[in-house]
Amino acid sequence: MNKLEMTSRAQAVLRLNDAGEFTKPSALQYPHQWNWDSALIAFGLAHFDLPRAYTEIRSLLRAQWRDGMVPHIIYSAGSTDYFPPPEFWQTANLPHGSPLPTSGLTQPPILATVIRMMGNVARLGSPATQPTYHEFLREVFPHLLTWHRWLHSARDADGTGLPCLLHPWESGMDNSPLWANALDRITPRDLPPFKRYDAIHVAPDERPLAPDYERFVYLTDRARQLHWDARALLEQMPFLVQDVLFCSILHRADEDLAALAVELGEATHEIESWLQRTRKVFNERFWVDERGLYLDYDLRARAPIPVNANATFAPLYAGLASPAHATRLVKEHFDNPAEYAPGVNSKFRLPSVAKNEPGYSARRYWCGPVWIQMNWIIAQGLRRYWFATEADSLIHDALALMEQSGFREYYDPRDGSGCGSQDFSWSAALALDMIATRSEDSSGD
Ligand code: DGY
Repeated sequence: MNKLEMTSRAQAVLRLNDAGEFTKPSALQYPHQWNWDSALIAFGLAHFDLPRAYTEIRSLLRAQWRDGMVPHIIYSAGSTDYFPPPEFWQTANLPHGSPLPTSGLTQPPILATVIRMMGNVARLGSPATQPTYHEFLREVFPHLLTWHRWLHSARDADGTGLPCLLHPWESGMDNSPLWANALDRITPRDLPPFKRYDAIHVAPDERPLAPDYERFVYLTDRARQLHWDARALLEQMPFLVQDVLFCSILHRADEDLAALAVELGEATHEIESWLQRTRKVFNERFWVDERGLYLDYDLRARAPIPVNANATFAPLYAGLASPAHATRLVKEHFDNPAEYAPGVNSKFRLPSVAKNEPGYSARRYWCGPVWIQMNWIIAQGLRRYWFATEADSLIHDALALMEQSGFREYYDPRDGSGCGSQDFSWSAALALDMIATRSEDSSGD
């Protein structure tokens, strides 16, 4: 497929899933608005319809909670075949909640980064788009600032300023083996009645297992009993982790937020203080020298989570890895065929979990499949250091997967067959960016 054909197919997916003011991640499986999906989708839209990209972000920020949190799901009226439904969260009428029906959780804060990148797209476009971008930026900046402030304070469980997650859904990597030990410690008693819909449109062996889902529901139930009160949640939620991917995305977004503040002539000292604090504590908290890996941290067990998932490469994207750590990550893990490199049991980069992890499973959601947005994030990280060839291999494989199997939610790393939902919006959105960026340095198809 040539670039023009792939571009028009990717745009068609975004149009297909367009619900007017937001874009569904996929028409049947995810009929509402998701936080980091919407941010990445907006970036794809910016490549061909900048005003629609602004609308996507405005509709996400309209749901911001009064305390600053930007929620992970914003419900649209009329869709009934998704669990959990809006009333399940019991978030309506909370004094610190949202004016709209939303979940009670948040998701990886990639939005400030996307908005900064959209500025580059606007600058490359017609001169008419530039004043509009500046106005848009002025409008959204206060929302970004309050969200980041909330992450660094309401979610600061240990005084480090590294936000913690209360539920696997907040990580975006719902059923990753990263959470297995923490979830195993939980016995889901007195579960409220619920019915899953997520394995109707997607093969059950590509979705989370029943024990994981029961714990997702149990944790939601615990949080709603605590009325989503920030302090009570930190004190009482049985699941409390600091995640390498989430903290890396936030740090990179803080860097981008500081740049946006400068562009607007706003003060940067508060953002600088977050940046400095994270630089001071990040490696001490997450780097495990014996394994040459960044590992998540379980605050309830007071111990690193000993699972090798591809989130371990995210500190490159945030510029938080030292040159020595970056080299070890690439040489000992990224290039290792037993873990992530093609050769043993895989053809495509980058499995979401190392292939030699006991919890690895090639087709099951976050237990092993390749995800397009992870390739996109980690490629940026590799380029930030000196690993351009490795970065190119991630973009090459992402495009090859989408060409072979369409814009799927995730892919089997062994043969590249598609898994999860079809016509998945952020895969299409990031394909548009990958094609545009690649065409700058190559003239052919
Ligand atoms: C789902 O429904 O699987 C989502 O990942 C929850 O956010």
